Amino acid sequence: MSEPIANTALAEAVNAALATVIDPELRRPITELGMVESVAVDDAGRASLVVLLTISGCPLRETITADATNALLAVPGVAAVDVELKVMTQEQRDALKELLRGQGGQRGIPFNEPGSLTRVYAVASGKGGVGKSSVTVNLACALAAQGLRVGIVDADVYGFSVPGLMGITQQPTRVDDMILPPVAYGVKVISIGMFVSGNQPVAWRGPMLHRALEQFLTDVYFGDLDALFLDLPPGTGDIAISVAQLLPKAEILVVTTPQAAAADVAERAGAIATQTGQKVAGVIENMSYLEMPDGGRMELFGSGGGQVLAERLTATVGAEVPLLGQIPLDIQLREGGDTGVPIVLGQAGTPAAAALSGIAGQLAAKPRGLAGMKLGLQPR
Ligand SMILES: Nc1ncnc2c1ncn2[C@@H]1O[C@H](COP(=O)(O)OP(=O)(O)O)[C@@H](O)[C@H]1O
Ligand SMILES: [Mg+2]
Repeated sequence: MSEPIANTALAEAVNAALATVIDPELRRPITELGMVESVAVDDAGRASLVVLLTISGCPLRETITADATNALLAVPGVAAVDVELKVMTQEQRDALKELLRGQGGQRGIPFNEPGSLTRVYAVASGKGGVGKSSVTVNLACALAAQGLRVGIVDADVYGFSVPGLMGITQQPTRVDDMILPPVAYGVKVISIGMFVSGNQPVAWRGPMLHRALEQFLTDVYFGDLDALFLDLPPGTGDIAISVAQLLPKAEILVVTTPQAAAADVAERAGAIATQTGQKVAGVIENMSYLEMPDGGRMELFGSGGGQVLAERLTATVGAEVPLLGQIPLDIQLREGGDTGVPIVLGQAGTPAAAALSGIAGQLAAKPRGLAGMKLGLQPR
């Protein structure tokens, strides 16, 4: 057992340094999470830190060790650092879970709590391949880059693609019955793809889908988010209905191409909102045009679909449904998806990235869930 640090100034500096070490999954300082068992500094300036991990196989042990070492080495008077990793006892884990979930360890869907300020967006489309997942990850990353706390639930059970689009290969960490989602670009991501091995197809029936989604929303620890995006499978199937039941406050973002026929199918996806009582937050037109080398625009999939859809949904749901933006076709958007670096982060100067950031800005400008609460962020 190490001695406490006698020098008060040094002790304060060491504690302040450790408070800057953020647990990569829980996104809170390790000092707040009860993860620092002890810290001592000997006369030669050698610091000995004992960190308690939530579980023994914690995949991020190296990140925590490196971050804590660097933080302590920055303290004047610390010349070397030894980090010892131990694992929490069941009582320590229970205390941590209680800290995270609140007193009594809430077991419902946190986004439905009366006090929840999280805006929930269900990204829907009529057809597959219109860019729903690409739009989801780019909006999420753009908002996270602005400093918002963002999560994604990849609810496209048969066609999950979010981990790939975000470059995530890490598995979620399980702390007893709590699942900690991997984080990429500041976004917490959970996907059904993380629970199947390899590329094996998922063949689930409606009730199993409903149960899986419910489990995601209940057991996954997202913490307090500003925005949660759900990447839905195309169409108006079981998952869309489950989302409406499990997250009645979710607002729908409808993605479509400029093609009139695509807008027709997309209208059905948006129009379920009238049956479920959900709000339609807006329409996003993707693949709007291809910019030619001479600066002209080639409208590969026609034009006007997004605007027409927005007008029709406005009439159908009886509330203003805006066209939030038009995203051009861009090879770099596709490449960003293939390499796991969303275009808003990797190629921020491109017109496609600007269109996506513009849409994210409109979402960020909306108040948080309760009326009158401002995020204090302006669209760029
Ligand atoms: N604006 C765009 N420009 C170029 N490629 C795009 C664009 N939007 C989507 N894509 C590509 O189209 C394909 C389908 O997009 P995806 O986001 O997976 O659609 P969905 O989730 O609706 O099935 C992907 O290969 C993606 O990279
Ligand atoms: Mg998809």
